[in-house]
Amino acid sequence: FPYGHVASLLHSVYQFFPRSLSPSLPGPLSLPLLGNMLELAHDHLPSHLTSLARRYGNIYRLKCGNTTMVVLNSGDIIREALVKKWSDFAGRPHSYTGDVVSGGGRSISLGDYSEEWRAHRRLAHNALQRCSQKSLHWVIQKQALHLRQVLLDYNGRAADLSEDFTVAASNIITTLAFGKEYEKSSAELQRLHGCLNEIVSLWGSPWISALDCFPLLRVGQAPSKTSEEDIAITSALLNGLGKPQDTTQGVVLTDTHVHMATVDLLIGGTETTAAWLSWTVAFLLHRPEVQYRVYDELCSVLDGRYPQYSDRHRLPVLCAVISEVLRLRPVAPLAVPHRAIRDSSIAGYFIPKNTVIIPNLFGAHHDPAVWTDPYSFKPERFLEGGGASTRALLPFGGGARLCLGEAVAKMELFLFTAYLLRDFQFVPAESQTSLPDLIGVASVVLKAKAYSVIALPRPGP
Ligand code: HEM
Repeated sequence: FPYGHVASLLHSVYQFFPRSLSPSLPGPLSLPLLGNMLELAHDHLPSHLTSLARRYGNIYRLKCGNTTMVVLNSGDIIREALVKKWSDFAGRPHSYTGDVVSGGGRSISLGDYSEEWRAHRRLAHNALQRCSQKSLHWVIQKQALHLRQVLLDYNGRAADLSEDFTVAASNIITTLAFGKEYEKSSAELQRLHGCLNEIVSLWGSPWISALDCFPLLRVGQAPSKTSEEDIAITSALLNGLGKPQDTTQGVVLTDTHVHMATVDLLIGGTETTAAWLSWTVAFLLHRPEVQYRVYDELCSVLDGRYPQYSDRHRLPVLCAVISEVLRLRPVAPLAVPHRAIRDSSIAGYFIPKNTVIIPNLFGAHHDPAVWTDPYSFKPERFLEGGGASTRALLPFGGGARLCLGEAVAKMELFLFTAYLLRDFQFVPAESQTSLPDLIGVASVVLKAKAYSVIALPRPGP
């Protein structure tokens, strides 16, 4: 019997109709016209998508207008798509809003995968690496000491520190990008942050997501107040950077690319780091004994001096706190949506070209199959014998779209936390009856709700 022929016949059938042979993706009932729009309008989208995973499994689909979205909710599945099959899923969805805020798709974070995009990302990556090798440690230490002075100036009064954290994070990027730092109250900084906030809120607004899914709604809705004029502030500052030329594969990068790369770094590197710092202080207010353990470790290991990044291997408790906050509150909880640039598959399901992929990092970090007691703040899980591994964390995504600022962010989180916890004890504001809320507000960035805290200076060494 010609088994070989049957096998090759089956193979051709499979090649021809891969859809019909692979199981169809589970997902909630999709309403006529609206699809699953209501699921996406949820208050805390990452935690809602995580609860849907408990019902439909770690990979499911949602419909939004003509777009099919596939939500990935476990570390293994996210790694399969973003790392193992990176070349199938490195695209970004073409989006109306994305085009408005990214100079026609010419930003790194929102630009689609292409030779031009690769050259652009490489340019920014190399520039960031060069600056980092030369001065990143020094730049972060300077901002950490500045933040220390700001906290001392509160003189034991309760204060909401979120803006101070934002200023510290943005000063690191502006120093790296164009050698300037700004005072909290300066008009230039207010303008810069106003501009960044508008871009970020435009990304995150559910109304704008609707514009992306239903093109007909766009008539008369051009959000003209962002784009060129607002971005002009960074554009003016950018002139100091010089003109890069990258002619590999015939790609020529222009001033617009330099401009957009700086916007990318500012947007990617400001609210994320600041939100992470607010979460850390919030969790430590709930667990004062953990705060004391870190302080104790810093005192005994460093013998009074300020830490260097190279000290991290000798400060396991501090590193465990950093990892646990990144796990519980990945500040980019749904990463940035990816797009399938060709037909492919994930976890055995056929994924057609142009499907939008949502890596639910928040869901992966709360997967009960991987994390014991996933909703509890337990830094000790990352200490020796605690049973958890940082390799299971994905706060920066992975593959071709891995966070461009991962190395910068890791050094910032370490040095800021070490400096702050060496010099201050954070205690709840007296006027507050309860501790900070730990659920937060989820948009593109997952932020803690505003809270006040008292930073009490620790006795000197
Ligand atoms: C992208 C996380 C800090 C610049 C991303 C993504 C995540 C992420 C999850 C999306 C990856 C994907 O699409 O799969 C974080 C976290 C941070 C942080 C948790 C801090 C705690 C920073 C910093 C910078 C930065 C400090 C800049 C210095 C960027 C850029 C992208 C990005 C430019 C777009 C990359 C691309 O599309 O190729 N980040 N980030 N991020 N991040 Fe970060």
